[in-house]
Amino acid sequence: LSIKSYNLCFLGFGNVNRTLVRLLRDREKELSDRHGVAWQITGLASRRMGWIADSAGLNSSILDDPEKHKFHANEGPALRPSDNVRDWLQAAHADVLFEATSLNVENGQPAIDHIRAALEGGAHAITANKGPVVHAYVQLSEIAAKVGKRFLFESSVMDGVPIFALFRDALPLVKLQAVRGILNSTTNVILSEMENGLSFDAALAKAQALGVAETDASYDIDGWDAAVKVAALATVLMRVPLKPSDVRREGIRKLSPQAVRDAKSAGKRYKLVCRLKRLDDRVEASVQPESLPLTDPLAAVEGTSSIICFQTDIFPELVITENNPGLEATAYGMLADFVRAAESDRVGRT
Ligand SMILES: NC(=O)c1ccc[n+]([C@@H]2O[C@H](COP(=O)([O-])OP(=O)(O)OC[C@H]3O[C@@H](n4cnc5c(N)ncnc54)[C@H](OP(=O)(O)O)[C@@H]3O)[C@@H](O)[C@H]2O)c1
Repeated sequence: LSIKSYNLCFLGFGNVNRTLVRLLRDREKELSDRHGVAWQITGLASRRMGWIADSAGLNSSILDDPEKHKFHANEGPALRPSDNVRDWLQAAHADVLFEATSLNVENGQPAIDHIRAALEGGAHAITANKGPVVHAYVQLSEIAAKVGKRFLFESSVMDGVPIFALFRDALPLVKLQAVRGILNSTTNVILSEMENGLSFDAALAKAQALGVAETDASYDIDGWDAAVKVAALATVLMRVPLKPSDVRREGIRKLSPQAVRDAKSAGKRYKLVCRLKRLDDRVEASVQPESLPLTDPLAAVEGTSSIICFQTDIFPELVITENNPGLEATAYGMLADFVRAAESDRVGRT
């Protein structure tokens, strides 16, 4: 197997991208032995750090403590702080951009511009961020196809469980008719913890400590994160572009701990349920709390776990449950996307 070396750039260096760096280090040997992929990190950026690049490879002290390094970014002889994303990608000689910045529900920016810059500069773009998927899927996919690179986003829904790859690579020609699921970990943790007796605020603090909450947790609580995921599924899997604001949405803010515990005493469980249904020429989409009987498979899904049930013309009901994912699951989705991108380089297919 011939080895191809990739220069990797990380935009956003929070929970997800830090975990991805650890996972890349952990799987370095298998990546090389089984997939012919070697890598080095040549770019790191966030608002606080600025744009840090070194095409010869950033040394690991920067990766281990990037915030501290911000103030010394000018010191290294080769280390070049850039002014903007295009300069940065160029200075880093980027082959792959891993984009994991915070969600912007309204318009997906600035992540869309960053991903476009990466693709146009000749790099694959891999994101865990739902914003660019829901606001620019068609546009970014078209650019990727034109330049012969991949735009991949497996981790944007259900933490890296291969949902998009499943339909793209393993279920050709299957028609997706409906989707039902629990896709937001933060609200599911809050509901589970309120059942166990915690207040709303204590339950939210627990979700935040687990690192699953959005940077702005009201995106989770008010159902926006779930609505963006529903819109992403409609846009990519049903090919019906849907904006988060097109999703009928109600969060869990009005649900009291008492109501959650009363439901439990009555043999039911409150869950924030996502629904998507294909009608003749449109889709119907909603996110809302529902009190479910315990016999419903959705009712058994607790804490950070999630579930998705697909109704298709071939498989009447296909269910995937993801129990207790950690940040590794999200980082893994990006790693798997990297392997897919490298595979398309190898076979010359995009
Ligand atoms: N955590 C999860 O379990 C999970 C699961 C699936 C998907 N995701 C998605 O993955 C993304 C990252 O999540 P996370 O948990 O890693 O978030 P996080 O810990 O809050 O990190 C976000 C990072 O992005 C940077 N950032 C934010 N806005 C930026 C901008 N405009 N330009 C440059 N850098 C920016 C932040 O640093 P500065 O503030 O310094 O800029 C920070 O380094 C989000 O889109 C999230 O929806 C997360």
